[in-house]
Amino acid sequence: MNKLSLVLVSTTAAVFLVWLLVQYSNQQMVSVVPPSPLFKDVTASIEDRIENLLSYMTLDEKIGQMTLVEKNSLKDISDISQYGLGALLSGFGGKPENNTIDGWKEMVEGFKVEAIKSRLGIPIFYGVDAIHGHSNVPGFVVFPHAIGLGATGDPDLVREVAVATRDQLLATGVNWNYSPTYDLPQDIRWGRVYETFSDDPTLTGVLGSAYIEGLQKNGKNEKYISVLATPKHFIGLGSMQWNTSSNENFKIDQGTTLADEAALRQIYLPPFKQAIDTGVMSIMVGLNKWGETKIAAESNLINKVLKEDLGFTGFVVSDWYGVYEITENDYDSAVIAINAGVDMVMLPFDYKAFVKNVRRAVSRGEITESRINDAVRRILRAKFAAGLFDLEPEKIVEINLIEQQALARKVVAESAVLLKNKNKLLPLSPSAKKLYVAGASADNVGLQAGAWTIEWQGIDGNWLPESTSILAGIKSVASANTEIIYSAEAEFGSNTEKADIGIAVVGEKPYAEGWGDNPNPSLSAEDLDLIERLKLVSNKVVVVLVTGRPLIITEQLESWDGLMVVWLPGSAGAGVADVLFGRKAFTGKLPMPWPANIKQLPIGTDGNTSDGSEVLFERYFGLRY
Ligand code: BGC
Repeated sequence: MNKLSLVLVSTTAAVFLVWLLVQYSNQQMVSVVPPSPLFKDVTASIEDRIENLLSYMTLDEKIGQMTLVEKNSLKDISDISQYGLGALLSGFGGKPENNTIDGWKEMVEGFKVEAIKSRLGIPIFYGVDAIHGHSNVPGFVVFPHAIGLGATGDPDLVREVAVATRDQLLATGVNWNYSPTYDLPQDIRWGRVYETFSDDPTLTGVLGSAYIEGLQKNGKNEKYISVLATPKHFIGLGSMQWNTSSNENFKIDQGTTLADEAALRQIYLPPFKQAIDTGVMSIMVGLNKWGETKIAAESNLINKVLKEDLGFTGFVVSDWYGVYEITENDYDSAVIAINAGVDMVMLPFDYKAFVKNVRRAVSRGEITESRINDAVRRILRAKFAAGLFDLEPEKIVEINLIEQQALARKVVAESAVLLKNKNKLLPLSPSAKKLYVAGASADNVGLQAGAWTIEWQGIDGNWLPESTSILAGIKSVASANTEIIYSAEAEFGSNTEKADIGIAVVGEKPYAEGWGDNPNPSLSAEDLDLIERLKLVSNKVVVVLVTGRPLIITEQLESWDGLMVVWLPGSAGAGVADVLFGRKAFTGKLPMPWPANIKQLPIGTDGNTSDGSEVLFERYFGLRY
């Protein structure tokens, strides 16, 4: 052997030795699981079952449980069992190719079956945003967005909506819902106002708990949670400052919450406390910042306030790409978030890199094994509580469409708020001879359902099955003696006899999240012109606002005879007609103050405007007839 070969051989041997060493240090002991391990014993306590299962898990299997992957990012379905993923989700619009109830069921069940092929057979959660019904799926009833539920102020009704949503989810195999929303909106310019019940922490706590009870209630076996609820977003959302968004496309969404810890504890914490007392097992941290720090990095708020002080024993999940926005470096971000108390990381994109990073952080002692164990215990606690190890994966129920439609219609009617009723214009008289109906939202279920309906940013038109537009509802409820003439543009011709009443159904186009941040939420020039045209051909005009938030209408209000806001009612447009025609009395109340102008923003949860002037309508205002 010459000198060169000797050098080559010894270098190769050295490299091989180093490689062996690295492999050895990465090696994780795999414990053999006996045929009937304690964790499978339904009679054992949840805590014993958790400890038993944990004792068999390798570090990689634990990290897998902390990993939540968007289904469209899955490189290969076998990664679910290969990595032992903790959960999957459909980001909104993440639908199966066959977007039907059956298509969903097949897709979700396929993922569940793959999960239990892993060495330990740990089942997964499958999560969606069923924030107004399981509105991902054509054919299901779409309920009003949360702001409408807030306007009903009725926890029993909200519980019923949550039960109906639970059934829709179960019918597609989904067992985790990113709802209800606990944000408290103080600035109507924010694009997520309609996802909230109210700016009132007390009402939010009461309705939120009712929703959690409905969603989690297992009709067959009370011992188990049915669909896991997720109050979101922890904490301080709704009080971000305008123009502080960390997203260059947005203005206030993902912005900075200025409240100090005392204010957060006093205003934002009580509803979360109530949710924990109601038995919630997962909570989502928001995409906002507190000072300069992303909430997902706030150990003081997550570890200390939420887990230690409130005694939350479930798991904390991060929101979308939030963890990766903590720093510019994915490794550091993952370390910071996990150490701050995030237990499951939502990874819309690259989960393989995350698993590697966390493994490396543990080997370097930057994340302790006890922190990993704590996170996994919390996730497993929720899985045992939901009976994932004990019940048949197929928990399909029959949906009673007629009952759900009737419920949605009732909620729509009870969420409508009457704001002006000059000379008792409403209820509309059955003896009215002629009604004009106009406006882009009159005959468009897509607009009345708002965003988070089939697509993240919503849909346009009347193609949603089993739905009724507001116009169709008016036609079905009005008396046979009343002629109803519709023109979306209010082009009724000037030579015809005036209508008794003109109904203008106008408002906002769908938007989701920061895409709905709007410096001046008000009616468009087209809508205002349309109302003017309608006034010329009608003796009286009532304006029906289809909107996700209060709009600035101070200057126009005087010239309208009637005004009602129906929020984003969803698929049961006939509920609007029920209150218009007096089939049902108005009972809705504004769940938040209605500002007179933009200078009043933000409005504190105590109702105080920024400039000290009076709002147009106070929170809980609502006329009766
Ligand atoms: C939203 C969350 C939602 C998540 C998953 C995020 O963009 O902020 O509210 O639950 O997406 O779809």
